[in-house]
Amino acid sequence: MLCQNRSFDLPIAVAVATALKLVEPDRVRDLVHLGELALDGSIRAVNGVLPAVLSAVRAGCRDVVVPVDNAAEARLVPGIRVHAVAHLADLIAAYASGAESFGVADPTPPQRPTVVRVPVDLADVVGQEEARMALELAAAGGHHLFLLGPPGSGKTMLAERLATILPRLSREQSIDVLAVRSLLGVTAAELSVEGAPPFVAPHHTATQAAIIGGGSRAVKPGAITQAHHGVLFLDEVPEFKSSVLQSLRQPLESGQVVVSRARSTVLYPARFQLVMAANPCPCGLGYGKGVGCSCTPLAKRAYLGRLSGPLLDRVDLRVQVPAVTRSSLAGTAGESSAVVATRVQGARQAQAQRWAGTPWELNSQVPGSTLRRGRWRLSRAVTTDLDRALDRGQLTLRGYDRVARVGWTIADLAGRDAPTRDDLGQALTLRNHDAVAA
Ligand SMILES: Nc1ncnc2c1ncn2[C@@H]1O[C@H](COP(=O)(O)OP(=O)(O)OP(=O)(O)O)[C@@H](O)[C@H]1O
Ligand SMILES: [Mg+2]
Ligand SMILES: [Zn+2]
Repeated sequence: MLCQNRSFDLPIAVAVATALKLVEPDRVRDLVHLGELALDGSIRAVNGVLPAVLSAVRAGCRDVVVPVDNAAEARLVPGIRVHAVAHLADLIAAYASGAESFGVADPTPPQRPTVVRVPVDLADVVGQEEARMALELAAAGGHHLFLLGPPGSGKTMLAERLATILPRLSREQSIDVLAVRSLLGVTAAELSVEGAPPFVAPHHTATQAAIIGGGSRAVKPGAITQAHHGVLFLDEVPEFKSSVLQSLRQPLESGQVVVSRARSTVLYPARFQLVMAANPCPCGLGYGKGVGCSCTPLAKRAYLGRLSGPLLDRVDLRVQVPAVTRSSLAGTAGESSAVVATRVQGARQAQAQRWAGTPWELNSQVPGSTLRRGRWRLSRAVTTDLDRALDRGQLTLRGYDRVARVGWTIADLAGRDAPTRDDLGQALTLRNHDAVAA
């Protein structure tokens, strides 16, 4: 992961000092050094210390020497002793003295700037029962989600609240997330193991490199890698360049991305949950009766047509988000994120038990064929409506599998062992029937 990186200054200097017999070779044999050197010999912080230290531990290393400002970050990695040093001369003196432990004991990280964040909550969303249900299902089963609706109906608002109902990350997952942020040069003060899944929402004008990864000089991870173990939200998705949308296909398939540049090829993790939002047509009004919309049928089809195929094929949940009506404004407030998050947690546990010993963890990852055959196959009585829709050509087999996956998640949220006919019926209504065909 580290290339064209200044963190090799310090190891080179230590190697030179060893060659000059200033340092005993045995003293530094099993140590990893990371850091940039200033001309006066002081050691400066570098990007990517966390992933480098992770690799060092995996390679069996037990001691690492890092710049003082990177120490807090390096100490997030379990199983390694971190020596924080400020100056090359201090390091060489420490090696000469033969001291077991050296460096700055526990440098206090720089003060964290106070960021005032307005907490968002699902309770803020008025009405939109179907979209709320879809959001909960997406969180529970890891299903990708597509929200379609006119401007101002709350699509962006809903998507932003997905992060509030997703389960916390495990410690291992958190460290993966922090490793990516470390590569991007986030300062140590901002790195903490907080367990919140990342929520990354690149703008539609963002470059291919910013979204997928790359860069003209050094290769950097893109938004899809920053969204690893979390959510990638593409708002106004038809406005993204087709080439960008196309290149999401491979990471969606494999959970990782290969970024190639003239001199280097880098593999980054990119297992993210995709959430997309769109208006039904370029003017945004062409929904339902489409009052006021003057877009031609051709323009409408072309607008959403850019999403079809590879991208939408992977999206189990496609729901319409209609404009908020006055009657729903008067209705009771929706459930809070905390209440929904508890149900999501329960559904995750049910899935963990069901798919234990298989390559899958979540219903969204299970191939349709597995759900149609063998152990997980549902009885004819349960699938009767689905079978009929398939026979009549109202549902493709792919659409059938999507409905089944969502049906399992509905059952998990309700605490049932397997989906009922009603669960599948509900899953069927959660598909977007007309505007984006399955
Ligand atoms: N269902 C809703 N409940 C509460 N407030 C809403 C709802 N829908 C819209 N709003 C209000 O309208 C604003 C715009 O909503 P939002 O940005 O989510 O709409 P949108 O569907 O993403 O629209 P656009 O297609 O223009 O991006 C919100 O900030 C909120 O104040
Ligand atoms: Mg929006
Ligand atoms: Zn229109």
